[in-house]
Amino acid sequence: MNSRETILNLLRDGETVSGGELSRRLGLSRSAVWKAVSALRQDGYDIDAAPGRGYRLRAAPDILTEPEVRRALGPVRLIGSTIVCVDETASTNLDCKRLAARGGANGTVVIANSQTAGRGRMNRQFQSPKDKGIYMSVLLYPDLPPERLLPLTVLAGVCVCSAVERVCGTRPGLKWPNDPVLNGKKLCGILTELSMEGESGRVAYVVPGIGINVAQTPGDFSPEVAEMATSLSWELKRDISRPRLAAALIEELDRAYDALCRGDLAEYLDACRRDCVNIGKRVQLISPDGRREEADAVGLDEAFGLTVRDASGAERVIRAGEVSVRGLYGYIE
Ligand code: BTN
Repeated sequence: MNSRETILNLLRDGETVSGGELSRRLGLSRSAVWKAVSALRQDGYDIDAAPGRGYRLRAAPDILTEPEVRRALGPVRLIGSTIVCVDETASTNLDCKRLAARGGANGTVVIANSQTAGRGRMNRQFQSPKDKGIYMSVLLYPDLPPERLLPLTVLAGVCVCSAVERVCGTRPGLKWPNDPVLNGKKLCGILTELSMEGESGRVAYVVPGIGINVAQTPGDFSPEVAEMATSLSWELKRDISRPRLAAALIEELDRAYDALCRGDLAEYLDACRRDCVNIGKRVQLISPDGRREEADAVGLDEAFGLTVRDASGAERVIRAGEVSVRGLYGYIE
């Protein structure tokens, strides 16, 4: 731990700690303590200095640094044991894949404050403006066959809903198969990338990547996505703490991945059935070649597939990736 982190830990409980006490505890001169406090202030920490009494932390900034995320993080089994926070990167998914090539630790979480080449599904870009979102990927080496990993992206969607509910008090819905939505608009994108060994077919690693829109205003989205995208603070009309939300998400992912490895997903299937905003509605199924078909979404099967009833009354199950699901008039409705 460096001197800034030690000072922060000592000031965390709202205590006033004298400069002399800080320099004793850190084994540093008073002027080195003063410099460290100034550096913390530059990072946005609101630190009071009462003459003759000492320093007091009045407020911590909304920044995605390891100390801020860790401060909000409870105990975890695997995911989050290592956390790497960067201010800017091309893509946190790419960072995890590079880490995997160097034998990075299982469960490493990479979080960025902005991405210059955020990757979305189907080779699309994921807009990742600075200070507005949480852009997070996890490096995992599962000891599972590829088919057992298929629910991972859906689980990540449920984890986002649970983390948002814990931190914001409102639970988003899930547009099938895995898009968290609030008031009919998309809050978050998830892209899971996987590497397999060619000969054995064994999974080398898997990287779920999650981008949550936290503080964007409509003007932050490009015209193509503005119609269907939104952010938490825009919908809830208040500021949301990104480090707290990132920590809650890490805890939820840690629990969900443990359940996936144990093969015990009943709780997540129940949550998905409750959260899915399409069930009971008429939807459009859009095939990769652009063909559109109307059907009624009636439920989820045991493997998170969407059961739909077509115009003839016949029921079938569609799997994630086969078709896109939209509402009759827009993204959901
Ligand atoms: C989508 O909706 O198309 C999926 C978007 C996934 C975006 C996240 S942000 C963190 C991680 N890093 C990336 O480059 N992509 C994912």
